Order: sequence, then structure tokens, then C-alpha cells
Amino acid sequence: MIGIAEIKLTDNEIEAAIAVLKSGGLRQGPQCNAFEEEFAAHVGAKHGMTSSSGSSALHLPYMSMLEPGDEVLCPSFTFIATASMVSMAGGKPVFVDVDPDTFLIDLADAESKVTSRTKAIAPVHLFGNPCDRPAVEGFARKHDLKIVWDAAQAHGAGYDGKDVGSWDDVVCYSFYPSNNMFVGEGGMTICNDAELNAKMRLFRSHGMAGKYYHTELGLNYRMTDVEAAIGREQLKRLDDMVATRRRNADILNAGLGQIAGIKPQATTLNGQHAWHQYCILVYEKDFGCGRDVLGERLKARGVQNGVHYPRGMHQQPVYEAKFGKQTLAVTEQLAETILAIPVHHGLSADEASQVVDAIADARNR
Ligand SMILES: Cc1ncc(COP(=O)(O)O)c(C=O)c1O
Repeated sequence: MIGIAEIKLTDNEIEAAIAVLKSGGLRQGPQCNAFEEEFAAHVGAKHGMTSSSGSSALHLPYMSMLEPGDEVLCPSFTFIATASMVSMAGGKPVFVDVDPDTFLIDLADAESKVTSRTKAIAPVHLFGNPCDRPAVEGFARKHDLKIVWDAAQAHGAGYDGKDVGSWDDVVCYSFYPSNNMFVGEGGMTICNDAELNAKMRLFRSHGMAGKYYHTELGLNYRMTDVEAAIGREQLKRLDDMVATRRRNADILNAGLGQIAGIKPQATTLNGQHAWHQYCILVYEKDFGCGRDVLGERLKARGVQNGVHYPRGMHQQPVYEAKFGKQTLAVTEQLAETILAIPVHHGLSADEASQVVDAIADARNR
């Protein structure tokens, strides 16, 4: 079976974790400090802050910048943490439709949803596809908004050759297994603003400004040194892993472009996609069967696949209950037709070609 993800640590990564375990330094410590510096340097930013997950990496900037009721423009086609961390910080996610080709936040729709309460925009580099940086930055400047980039899926992505991690105001990563870089559970929040960085660090550790001296109400969102040690080692092979994903995506793009009824995600113009996922839209009328049937046929041919995501955030019961029913046509269409197929760094060029062949074969049954 060709898997949908490759979650295997190298011997070096395992040894780095064991060395920490043997040292007894289990909590957040020198490994986290070094990981923060090395990751920030790698993406070209000033400050890195490790945290317990990609979700906490998002929650901490929102805790630092939102007042109750502040609105944040979020794409509806994403993982729930993009929006739920706004809610958990007392803000209100306002759902925006996405572009039918790139699957990224649609700024024309966002424009129609700006109010006097809008405080920030939360563009997601979905599946590793970088957002159009100048367009988002121009939009944010026009409406005086903070930008919280959700780069949970976009380690190694860039625009015009600049890593997405170097952009203002805040960039949030996840190191959950199956991501382009993984440590287990973990996250990193990157920024260039020393004051914001200091504030987020307070919230990360119970608002503790001195020993048992608390100036804010915070949480325990710390990463452990075991995970940081794995992350430091893994950072050394991030570029290679992303290069393999790009090679595989090139093979898939070339092969699938020939198959009627299949439409791969379009890379943002001037963007360097990091291919966390390779997603296609399956048009039943032209392909001969729909997404779910293709998924089953691929499994029968030894190719794992998955649906990211089967519904938009505005269609999640929790948000329907809060905000009522909304219609976001593109998101809803993507949710019905999208299928993720293997592209990961463990996939050989041969296997990528086999994936193309399996889809062509599945079309003919
Ligand atoms: C777009 C996006 N944002 C945020 C997160 C949250 O990351 P974590 O699962 O590490 O909390 C994820 C996780 O998959 C994600 O895909």
C-alpha cells in the first residue's frame, strides 16, 4: 500500500531525544531555546517561540492581541484550529470563502465582511500553498489589520523566494506528525516584534513574570526539550524533505494534467508550494465517478487517500449553532469534490508515477 504520510524519525532524531531523556532535562529548557533560535534563523525571522501544539501557537498571539468581540477574518476551508483559537481567545471568527483554484482565502469576499470590529486576518497557506503575500499585506494595510499567518501546513513554503516564516505580523507552525516537519505534538510562533514575543511568552507560562509572580492569566503551553531536540535534528533535513515533495508534485502535476475530470490545486503565482498535501478535485461528470468512489477504487489499487476537509468551518455544528447557517459556495463545492493523494517525502518517484497510473486506471474502472 502506498501511504498518505511518512512519519518515521531518523536514528539521529531518536538519539537526540534519548540524550535528553538520559540527561533528565524533560521540561522546556536549553533544547527549546536552541530550537527557537535555529528555526527563526532558518525562516529568516527575529523571534521564535516553541509551544505545545500548532493550536497553542495560534492561541497565544490571539490572547496577546484580541479584545472580547474582536473579529478575525478566517478562511472557511481549513482545519478548525484556525478559527477556534480566535474563539478561545474571546474573538469572533468571520468566515470567508476561498479561491476555487488555489483554495486560499478570497480577498474579494473578505472585503465584503470587514466591519468596525475587524482586528485581524488569518490567511492559511493551505496544504503548503503560500498565500499571495502582496495582496494580503495590501488588504491588511488598507483596513489596518494584524496578519496572523497560519503556516501549520507550510514549513518550507515561500513567495518570491522569501520563506513564509519571515513575514509580519505573526506566523504559526504545527509539528504534528504528517506535517512537513514533525516532533510529536508541538508548535512554533514566529514574529519580528520583540514586545509581542515577550507578551506571548508570558501567556505561554501562566503569565509568570517572576517566580510565583503573575502579571497575566495564562496557560501551560510549553514544549518539552525531548520534542525540541527532535525538532532541531529534523530542521537539518527540512529542505531535503520539501525538495522531495516538490519532485513528487511535479510528477503528479505532469501526469494528472492529462486526465479529464481531475483538477489539482493551483500553486499561487510567484509562490513556492511546500506540498504538505497534494489535493485534487474530482468532477464526476468528466471523470466518470465522484470523489468517494475514486477514493475507494484507489484503495483497492493500493493507494491511500483522504478527504481534507469534508465540510467548511461555517458548516461545523459548533459554528452553525453559534452563527446560524451560512452559504460559502466555493468552500462547499471543494468539500464535496476534494481528495488528497500521496505526495510525502517518503514517496519515491516511481511510486508517484504509480499514483498517476492508479488514477488513470480507476477512471476506466
Ligand atoms: C491549518 C491548521 N492550523 C492549525 C493546526 C493545529 O495544529 P495542531 O494539531 O498541532 O494543534 C492544524 C493542524 O493540523 C492545521 O492544519
